[in-house]
Amino acid sequence: MKEFKKQTSFTIFESLSELTIDIRALMQEAKNAINSAYAPYSHFQVGAAILLANGKIVIGNNQENAAYPSGMCAERVAVWSAASRYPDVVIKKIAIAVKSKNQEIDQPVAPCGACRQSLLEYEVKQKEPIEVFFMGEIGKVIKANSLKDLLPFSFDQSFL
Ligand code: THU
Repeated sequence: MKEFKKQTSFTIFESLSELTIDIRALMQEAKNAINSAYAPYSHFQVGAAILLANGKIVIGNNQENAAYPSGMCAERVAVWSAASRYPDVVIKKIAIAVKSKNQEIDQPVAPCGACRQSLLEYEVKQKEPIEVFFMGEIGKVIKANSLKDLLPFSFDQSFL
């Protein structure tokens, strides 16, 4: 038996102003996408914006349902929209922003486990990392260079 350490690494930016103009623009698209989220039950709105290698930006937002598990997260709405519209185009980056009607979220909100797994699928498929940027409504922004940093032990097609 031995201890095994697996390291993951992230970059923390104090605010959006520390990011390059292209990431600020992508995050702004994610923030705009919040406005068309459908979240009447949780009052927690999420927007996501994906930058593709062809320069296109594809957005998504959370879509809730009265039958709660039938709803869907913003990140998966965005990645499945991108994959269905541009199946052979590499996904370069995803920016994620949130807003709550209950409180001001001043900490970065990471994508949920199911969204990480769904995003990882396309990273494995395209054999190129996807950068993930996430934040709260205000404050710090966290950048992961790859889904592998968000899911250090992951399940993928290599097991099938
Ligand atoms: N949500 C997302 O859109 N993305 C996540 O990564 C976490 C949660 C949504 C789902 C639901 O509509 C609301 O946030 C509260 O869980």
